[in-house]
Amino acid sequence: MSIGIFDSGLGGLTVLDKALRLLPDEDYVYYADEGHVPYGEKSPEQIVAYSTAAVSFMESKQVKAVVIACNTATSVAIEQLRARFSMPIVGIEPAVKPAVEQAGSRRILVMATPVTVRESKLRQLIASLDAEDTVDLLAMPGLVHFCEAEEYDSPAVRQYIASRLEGKNLAEYSDLVLGCTHFNHFKKPLAAFFPGGIRMLDGSMGTVRRLKDLLEKQGQRGGGSGRIEYYVTDGQPAGEAVTARAGRLLARLKELEAETE
Ligand code: DGL
Repeated sequence: MSIGIFDSGLGGLTVLDKALRLLPDEDYVYYADEGHVPYGEKSPEQIVAYSTAAVSFMESKQVKAVVIACNTATSVAIEQLRARFSMPIVGIEPAVKPAVEQAGSRRILVMATPVTVRESKLRQLIASLDAEDTVDLLAMPGLVHFCEAEEYDSPAVRQYIASRLEGKNLAEYSDLVLGCTHFNHFKKPLAAFFPGGIRMLDGSMGTVRRLKDLLEKQGQRGGGSGRIEYYVTDGQPAGEAVTARAGRLLARLKELEAETE
């Protein structure tokens, strides 16, 4: 049995990349809803419908667990998905908790999609940490488009980031939470805007650790060899173009990790 990983597009490869490191003896089904990306600019009803279709497809593939490798779909749809499907479903959330723990009295900037920023789930998380006064939220939908187009550090990317950060006192921030799985590809151009340095956090490793615990508890760990099958909207097998793009993105994530280790 495989593990299902689902995102609106190829941002969820950030989670697959960590899963391949921590759980190399598993097989994976990756579903990229390329026909509907970006979720961050859709209505909650649309996101619930798309996510339900994706998890139904995973059910038909008889996966042992599903990872919603999309902060946006997690924030809008996870409760409804868990109520509807019987297989274990693991979501991803912006890593605000570890950021609050390490920031002390410094400020935290959370970047996410417009939907994640608007939804109550993230606001409740921040309130539960008593961190409303130190956490700022910023929607960065343009980065999803740039990532899907494999444009990572161009003048247009830098100009976009500059326009979104305009007016902020960047020296105040000690931590930047990447609250969308597409954003990990932009660590370098983002870091350049924080001259005093900034710590970046994301929820991908935490999500994979939770997946690992869950599979261990269920006695379902292992049995695979790191095989990946790619599917797109409606459960169609991904064509050569998407599969090749996914391969390039995974290779890029590996390179980025090697640089920072
Ligand atoms: N990668 C997704 C996330 O983590 C959503 C991006 C989008 O489709 O807008 O939020």
